[in-house]
Amino acid sequence: MRIGIAADHGGYALKEEIVPKLKAAGHEIKDFGAVCYDDNDDYPDLIIPMAKAMAAGEVDRGIAFCGSGVGACVAANKVAGVRAATITDVFSAHQGVEDDDVNVICLGGRVIGGALAWELAQTFLKAKFTKADRHQRRLTKVIKQESAPTPAVKKQIAQNVCADLRKQGIAEDIVKRVEKQILYGSGD
Ligand code: RB5
Repeated sequence: MRIGIAADHGGYALKEEIVPKLKAAGHEIKDFGAVCYDDNDDYPDLIIPMAKAMAAGEVDRGIAFCGSGVGACVAANKVAGVRAATITDVFSAHQGVEDDDVNVICLGGRVIGGALAWELAQTFLKAKFTKADRHQRRLTKVIKQESAPTPAVKKQIAQNVCADLRKQGIAEDIVKRVEKQILYGSGD
């Protein structure tokens, strides 16, 4: 399997411990760094390029490391197409893939040891999305959110539409209802 790897200083030591094991297991590793321990590096600079490679299909799965596994997860999930989860237990390592199609796991170098990290990585890599109808339905709803307009874009649309309606002499209570629908409606 092609695996994208990235770590900041908080996860660097754990990355260095896990990468040789992944290689020995026959995986193809694309390492996005850090290439050395640097107390001043910032996890978004390392994790986001790996997440982009995941979204572009350049790797099949991703493993991100930081101190807690939280910052890496927050950063990776900003990239559309990435479903990242901070993982500390074996059940979530496979269930997150089977039900939610998680494609990146985030491990905390200051939280878990090497043996557990390796077990979680192997469990995650072996797991497959079941594609059960209910999980596919939920995943489709998650993916749909990725293409939803941002709040700033919605605000702009609402302003334009409402200005238009007012010009046409539409009653203010209706204009307000339309505005609310654009800003807070589900978009369905
Ligand atoms: C870096 O010191 C640390 O904050 C980072 O690795 C991570 O734990 C953030 O979630």
